[in-house]
Amino acid sequence: MGTRLWILMLVVNQVSPYRRPAEPSPCQVVHEDVDCSSLNLRRVPAQLPAFIHLLDLSRNLLQNLTDRELPALSTVQHLNLHANKIQFIQPGLFQGTSRLEVLDLSANSLDLYAALKTHIGPLKSVQHLDLSGNGLFTDMSDYFLSDAPVLTNLSLDGNSITKISRHTFNGSQALRNIDLHNNVIIEIEEGAFESLTGLSELDLSVNSISCITDFNLVQLKTLNLSKNSLTNFQTVDSDLEFEILYLDLRENKILYFPVLPERNKLMYLDLSRNLLRSVNCSGPLEELENLKASGYLFTDHDKPLCLCVNQRHQDLPRLLYLDLSYNQLKAIPSSFFSSMVSLESLNISNNCLERFSVDSEGRLNSLKTLDISYNNLQNLSFGESTLAALEVLHLQGNALSTLDAGIFSRLPNIRSLHLQQNLFSICPSLKGPMHDCIRLSSIPTLSYLYLSENSLASVPPGAFRRTPLLILDLSQNADMGLGPSSLSGLETTLVHLSLRGNQLRTLAIDFTLFRKLKSLDLSVNRLTGVSLWSGDSSVESLNLQNNSLVTLASDTVFALQKSLRTLYVGSNPLSCCGNPYLLTLLQQDRLNVPDIAAATCWYTRDSESVEISVSAVQSEHCESVDGKVLWISVIVMLALGLTLVLVVALKLCHSKTHRFKRGIKA
Ligand SMILES: *[C@@H]1O[C@H](CO)[C@@H](O)[C@H](O)[C@H]1NC(C)=O
Ligand SMILES: *[C@@H]1O[C@H](CO)[C@@H](O)[C@H](O)[C@H]1NC(C)=O
Ligand SMILES: *[C@@H]1O[C@H](CO)[C@@H](O)[C@H](O)[C@H]1NC(C)=O
Ligand SMILES: *[C@@H]1O[C@H](CO)[C@@H](O)[C@H](O)[C@H]1NC(C)=O
Ligand SMILES: *[C@@H]1O[C@H](CO)[C@@H](O)[C@H](O)[C@H]1NC(C)=O
Ligand SMILES: *[C@@H]1O[C@H](CO)[C@@H](O)[C@H](O)[C@H]1NC(C)=O
Ligand SMILES: *[C@@H]1O[C@H](CO)[C@@H](O)[C@H](O)[C@H]1NC(C)=O
Ligand SMILES: *[C@@H]1O[C@H](CO)[C@@H](O)[C@H](O)[C@H]1NC(C)=O
Repeated sequence: MGTRLWILMLVVNQVSPYRRPAEPSPCQVVHEDVDCSSLNLRRVPAQLPAFIHLLDLSRNLLQNLTDRELPALSTVQHLNLHANKIQFIQPGLFQGTSRLEVLDLSANSLDLYAALKTHIGPLKSVQHLDLSGNGLFTDMSDYFLSDAPVLTNLSLDGNSITKISRHTFNGSQALRNIDLHNNVIIEIEEGAFESLTGLSELDLSVNSISCITDFNLVQLKTLNLSKNSLTNFQTVDSDLEFEILYLDLRENKILYFPVLPERNKLMYLDLSRNLLRSVNCSGPLEELENLKASGYLFTDHDKPLCLCVNQRHQDLPRLLYLDLSYNQLKAIPSSFFSSMVSLESLNISNNCLERFSVDSEGRLNSLKTLDISYNNLQNLSFGESTLAALEVLHLQGNALSTLDAGIFSRLPNIRSLHLQQNLFSICPSLKGPMHDCIRLSSIPTLSYLYLSENSLASVPPGAFRRTPLLILDLSQNADMGLGPSSLSGLETTLVHLSLRGNQLRTLAIDFTLFRKLKSLDLSVNRLTGVSLWSGDSSVESLNLQNNSLVTLASDTVFALQKSLRTLYVGSNPLSCCGNPYLLTLLQQDRLNVPDIAAATCWYTRDSESVEISVSAVQSEHCESVDGKVLWISVIVMLALGLTLVLVVALKLCHSKTHRFKRGIKA
C-alpha cells in the first residue's frame, strides 16, 4: 500500500511539474548542459542550476520571453529555443545575458513580434543567430539586428523576405556568413552587403533574383545563387583580385556565360540547368526577344533587360570543377579552355553539341573526368598530348559511330570508358581494317568498359587483348556474335561481365579460365543450357534469369556450388524432376536466391504440364515417373530371376545325366 502511493506521487510529479514551483526540474542536467527539450513546457523552469553553459528548450510551447525568465538565462552561452511558439520577447531581455554566444530562435512566430515594430534591444555577445522559419517579411529582420556588433553567422532561411535594403545589416557589421536560402528576394539594394568587410559566405539560393549586373563583393568566398530566375551574372569592371572560390548558379535562366572577375581564384562553378547557348557573350538577340515575349524572362521596368555587354576573355586558372550540363550549347571552341589549366572535372552532358574537340589551344591536361554524354555528337577529336590526366570519359547517349580508331589509346591515364548507347563497332585486335571501328585492345590503364546498347554485331577475337579490364558490360546488343576467343586476354583480370539481353542461344566460352570472375550476368537471353565450366568456377553471383533453361547439368552445378553466393534463375522453363542437383543447391541456406518467387518449374500430372514454385517441389511430383521405373525394374528382376532358375535347372539336369553316364561307365 505504502509503495503504491509513493509511485502515484511520482507519476503526478512527472505529469505536472510546474503547477507547483517547488517541484524539482524535469530537465536532464549533464555537467553544465541542461536539456529541457520536448517537455511541453509553457514557461522556462524556475529550478535550474545556477551556472548553465547550454540550455536546450527546443520543441516546447514557450510563447513569451520576459525578464521573469532572466535568472535562468544569465549565464547561458548557448540558448536553443527552436520550435516553440515564441511571439513576444521583452525588449532588452538579452541585455543581461553577457555570455550568450549562440541564440537559436528558429521555427517560432517572430513575425507577430515584428508586427509590434519594437527592437529586441542589444545582442552584445551573440555570434550565431538563427531566425529561420519565422514568417518574417522584408525589413522585419531589422528589429533583431539593429545592435549585434559581434554577430558572425546569421540564418534567415525560410522566411518571406522580398528585398534586402542597404540598411538591413547596418547593426551587424561583423557578419561572415549569411543564409538567405528559401525566401522570395526580388531585389538587393546597392550597398546592402558591400560594407560587410568580413563577409565570406552568402547563400541566396531558392529566391527570385532575376539579374546580377554588378557583382562587386571582392572578399566573398562562397556565393550560392542556385534556383533563382537569373538571366545574367556580371561582375563590375575591376582590377582587384576577387576571393570567390565557389559560385553556384545552377537552375537559373542564364543565357550567356557569366562575366566573372578578371582576377579570380574561382575553383568551383556550377552553371547546370540554365539556358546557355554559347560560352561567350555572342548570341542571337531575337532569341532573347522570343523568350521575353513568351513570358519566360522577367524584366524590371526601371532597368533595361539584363544583357551581356562584356566580351573580354575569361581567365579561370584555378578552376577545378565546371558543370555546364543541361544547357543548350551547340559548340564550345577549344580556346574556351585555354586558361583552365587546373580543371579536373568538366561536365557538358545533356546539351546539343554536334562536335567536340580538345586541341593545342586548350589542352585540359589536368582534367580527370570529362562528361559529354547525351549530346548529339558526330565528331569527336582529341589532339596530340592533350587530356594527359583523363581517367573517366562519359560518351554515352550520342549515336556516335565513327571515330578515329585509336582515339582512346592516346589517353595515357584512361581508367573508365562509358560508351553505352552509341553505334560503335569494335576493331579486331590484330592488324586489319581499322576504319569505322574503335580499337579497345592494348589500352594498359583501362579497367572499366561499358558498351551496352551499341547494336554491336560482333566482338572480334581478342578485341580486348592487353587491356586489363575488371568490368565489361556488353549488355543489350541484340544478336551480338560472341566467339570462344572474343574475351581472350581478359582471363586474369575480369571480375564482372554482363551479357544481359543479347538474345544469345549458345555461349562457347570456358569460364574456368577466368579465375577472377566474381559476377556473371547472362539474364534475358535464350540459352537452353550452360556448360560453361570445364573445371572449378570462381563466380559468386550468377544471373540466369529469363532464359530457356530446362535443366542445369550436374557438372555445372558441381562447378558452381563451391563459390556461388547469389543465383537468379526465375523465368526459365525448368523441369522439376530433371534438376535434382539444382533443386538441392537452391535449398541451401548459404545461397541467396533473390528471385525465388519467380523461380518455377514444370512437371507432368496426368499427361498435363503443371507449373509450380521450385521451393514447392515434393517427391510425389516426380512419383509417376518413379513408379514406372519401379515397374520396369520389377519386371526386369523377375525376368532375370526366371532365367537364373532355368539356367540352374538346366545345369542340374545336365550334371545328373553326366553322373549317370559316369556311373554306367564305372
Ligand atoms: C503572452 O503574451 C500575450 C500578450 O502579450 C498574452 O495574451 C499571452 O497570454 C501570453 N502567454 C503566456 C503563455 O503567458
Ligand atoms: C545605417 O547607418 C547609416 C550610417 O551609418 C545611417 O545613416 C542609417 O540611418 C542606418 N540605418 C539604420 C536602419 O539603422
Ligand atoms: C559560421 O560561418 C562560418 C563561415 O563564415 C562557417 O565556417 C561556420 O560553420 C559557421 N558556423 C555555424 C555554427 O553555422
Ligand atoms: C547551393 O544551394 C543549394 C540549395 O540550397 C544546395 O543544394 C547546394 O548544395 C548549394 N551549393 C553549394 C556549392 O553549396
Ligand atoms: C563565341 O562563340 C561562337 C561559337 O559558340 C564563336 O563562333 C565566336 O567566335 C565566339 N566569340 C568570341 C568573341 O569568342
Ligand atoms: C554530369 O551532370 C549530370 C546532370 O547533372 C549528372 O547526372 C552526371 O552525373 C554528371 N557527371 C559526372 C561525371 O559527375
Ligand atoms: C568531322 O570532322 C571531319 C574532319 O575533322 C570532317 O571532315 C567532317 O565533315 C566532320 N563531320 C561532321 C559531321 O561535322
Ligand atoms: C524476359 O525478357 C523479355 C525481354 O526483356 C521481356 O519482354 C519479358 O517480359 C521477360 N520475361 C519474364 C518472364 O520476365
